[in-house]
Amino acid sequence: MTGRNACAIVEGGVSALASKILADIEASGLPSPLKYLIAAHGHADHVMGLLKLKHNFPQLIMAGSKETGRILAKEKIIRNFAQDDVMYADYLREGGHFPDPADSPDEPLELDLAMEDGGILDLGGVQLKFIACPGHAPDNTVIQVEPDHAFLLSDSAGYASAYNDILPLFFYSYRSYLEGLARIKSLAPGHIALGHNVLISGEPECRRFLDLAADQAIKMRESILRRIQDKAPVEETEEQIADQMSRYGLFKAFPRNRPNRGPANPLNPTTGWVWSGTPSR
Ligand SMILES: [Fe+2]
Repeated sequence: MTGRNACAIVEGGVSALASKILADIEASGLPSPLKYLIAAHGHADHVMGLLKLKHNFPQLIMAGSKETGRILAKEKIIRNFAQDDVMYADYLREGGHFPDPADSPDEPLELDLAMEDGGILDLGGVQLKFIACPGHAPDNTVIQVEPDHAFLLSDSAGYASAYNDILPLFFYSYRSYLEGLARIKSLAPGHIALGHNVLISGEPECRRFLDLAADQAIKMRESILRRIQDKAPVEETEEQIADQMSRYGLFKAFPRNRPNRGPANPLNPTTGWVWSGTPSR
């Protein structure tokens, strides 16, 4: 995001991408100094690149919600993130996507700037509004960019491999996930950018996408509930969700025999091999 007075990087991917981010910035040239690194939620695949940039350029201001700050300050979580970061880098390198190895600091970090829900960061002519959408993760934050009326969703609407192919990701709270989607829809976005890929422009298209994301989440939950009612083994349900997830992006990187890090819960697959992000609470 570029403003008259300052620029900001919103989300940093994995550490292997940090040098590419810097090269891209250098090639494009910035209208004003890079000042902020913004973490939209504390999951390894969104913050490790930021941690590396902050480590290399300590003068940059790391900003995020208070909840993200609490996550990034935990030593055990960052140690787990560093392990995931290596796995992601290996996956990206083996797939011929990015040649760089992981180089992630594995020490916890204090946010320089903790933002409240509704807080605004002014870059000079461009404002970034922080909107709490705690459905994917407890700290998931949407960044509303004005005057473009663009919304950077992070993982609020799941992982989309295409406009109409969306994997729901209600890791933390199904209800908050749907509330978050409804809240974003009520703000009538003109543009939407997901944390991983897919950009959507035009109010009707954004509305359609948000409706579809909610619909997919409802369908996934119904399918899980049906299996529970049918007394299907929990492990089988987890396997089914895992199969579905493993078709998408970085989830392909997770080995199927990954040891669980916590109790299995098909309605909140935050732990287990499916995902190793923020522990559920
Ligand atoms: Fe995430």
